[in-house]
Amino acid sequence: MRKPIIAGNWKMNLTAKEAIAFVEEVKNKIPSNDAVDSVIGAPALFLYPMVEAAKGSQLQLAAENCYFENNGAFTGENSPLAIADMGIQYVIIGHSERRDYFHETDEDINKKAKAILANGMTPIICCGESLEQRESGETNDWISGQIKAALEGLTAEQVANLVIAYEPIWAIGTGKSSDAQTANETCGVVRATVEELYGKEVAESVRIQYGGSVKPENIKEYMAEENIDGALVGGASLQPASYLALLDAV
Ligand code: G3P
Repeated sequence: MRKPIIAGNWKMNLTAKEAIAFVEEVKNKIPSNDAVDSVIGAPALFLYPMVEAAKGSQLQLAAENCYFENNGAFTGENSPLAIADMGIQYVIIGHSERRDYFHETDEDINKKAKAILANGMTPIICCGESLEQRESGETNDWISGQIKAALEGLTAEQVANLVIAYEPIWAIGTGKSSDAQTANETCGVVRATVEELYGKEVAESVRIQYGGSVKPENIKEYMAEENIDGALVGGASLQPASYLALLDAV
């Protein structure tokens, strides 16, 4: 039985003051971690005060990216060692916005996954296809290739505990969500790829989220699907009421 994981991905939104006000408002209303992992991914700029504000609550935090070296002459990058040291549990990597706008490659994502795991955190590894790929029938091969590249060199134990987010690019921020059955089928491709590489037990253990225009009104449809263990949510995670409604729906 896989524990659901609902993660907000704020992207480049909110200010430090707004972020702290959000944490103050939700922190005592988060369901128990025994039932669901409730995560917010926020800009690295204000993760530390968020950790402080969330102390003693069930709210968990994620960075939205990190570098693959722990320290050195890498101006402007964020160290996974420093992120872990703040008490952050997750790092989102390989989001299509990072792949498209910041030219992050499969190889970078693999190196980042290794660095995140080496620092005791859990990567949330994103994958997803474009509308053109979906329409030309390339989705399954594309997704499987992204997963194989991201997991290269990881151990079965590491893979069993990580989180993979399937986010069709055409459904991100568009209000046009993938229907639950299609999302489930493609999450099934992710799981089958993990099984091909690591066997059934690992594939049954890895948690797979769907992301793309998820909101309180539709989250239940996704969570009812066999291969979907949670959601990675952009816009609908920015307001406390909406974020709490997502958690309540699980
Ligand atoms: O990572 C979450 C995401 O890309 C989906 O964004 O706004 O469509 O929920 P949104």
